[in-house]
Amino acid sequence: MAIPFSIKSSIDSRRSARNYKMIAVDAEVLKSVKEFARSISVPFDHNVEIKFFHAEPTNALYMTMKSPENNIAFISETDFVSISKVGFIGELLILFAQSKGLSTCWYGHYKLSELERLMPHLQSVEQLNMGYGYSKGITIGKRAICITPLGYYEDRGLRVMDRITKKTISFKRKEIKDLLEIPGDYDKLSSDILYALDLGRKAPSAANSQMWRFAFEDNFKTISIAMPIGYHHFKWEHPNVDIGICACHVWLGLLDKGYYPNITVSEKSERAVWRLSM
Ligand SMILES: Cc1cc2nc3c(=O)[nH]c(=O)nc-3n(C[C@H](O)[C@H](O)[C@H](O)COP(=O)(O)O)c2cc1C
Repeated sequence: MAIPFSIKSSIDSRRSARNYKMIAVDAEVLKSVKEFARSISVPFDHNVEIKFFHAEPTNALYMTMKSPENNIAFISETDFVSISKVGFIGELLILFAQSKGLSTCWYGHYKLSELERLMPHLQSVEQLNMGYGYSKGITIGKRAICITPLGYYEDRGLRVMDRITKKTISFKRKEIKDLLEIPGDYDKLSSDILYALDLGRKAPSAANSQMWRFAFEDNFKTISIAMPIGYHHFKWEHPNVDIGICACHVWLGLLDKGYYPNITVSEKSERAVWRLSM
């Protein structure tokens, strides 16, 4: 797939936005985002569904902020590999939206009953009774995993403290050296791999936990991306989504350097493990 946006500048400029102008996305721009969503093609099979939906300007859905008019839901089965693919596919769309001047924010915490009212998609009452976003507890069946607002960032009207601390937008990341399973590998990495890992480390993650770790096989021709075995986060029980987002960034970095890696993703030790082979 030819990537129709500037990879590095879209990754570098993307920030999670949590305050939006209460206006609809320009019709032409929205059309281009929908067309891109339909055209996404990646070198692995997936069943991620992308649904665009409208919301009202209330706190009912995101709870901590008002919904803008346009929003997107990423839907899949709930096994580790499927939700990780949601991260990969969703991030491609989020970066495309960024390149069109739109703001977004991955949300794993949202009110499921409100989402179901706005965008009916659940297959059973049991799913609805689980109530609260996709943050905690066991989930079953095909359902929205994460959602994102799609719109224009509004920095006016923020509380003074939020403006000063930039609480509504954030950017702080670990160094590549701190993300390698074997720290001594750092000096053996080519500049192309370092470029791809640098884009990988800039991926968004829930609570900015950056739980991805990089390892290498086949004389550094394969990069594997996964969270540490047994990793748990007290607020976000689905970090495999985030791992897919990071894998998307690393893949884009390799494409940017002229590689067309094969991708496999499999379940190992209750984790999704991505392998990108050049
Ligand atoms: C899978 C996922 C779920 C997230 N869920 C939420 C959420 O429910 N609420 C929220 O305010 N931010 C959420 N975020 C946004 C992160 O807090 C944000 O990506 C992180 O702090 C890094 O900041 P940045 O995206 O501006 O680089 C989520 C991010 C990811 C990747």
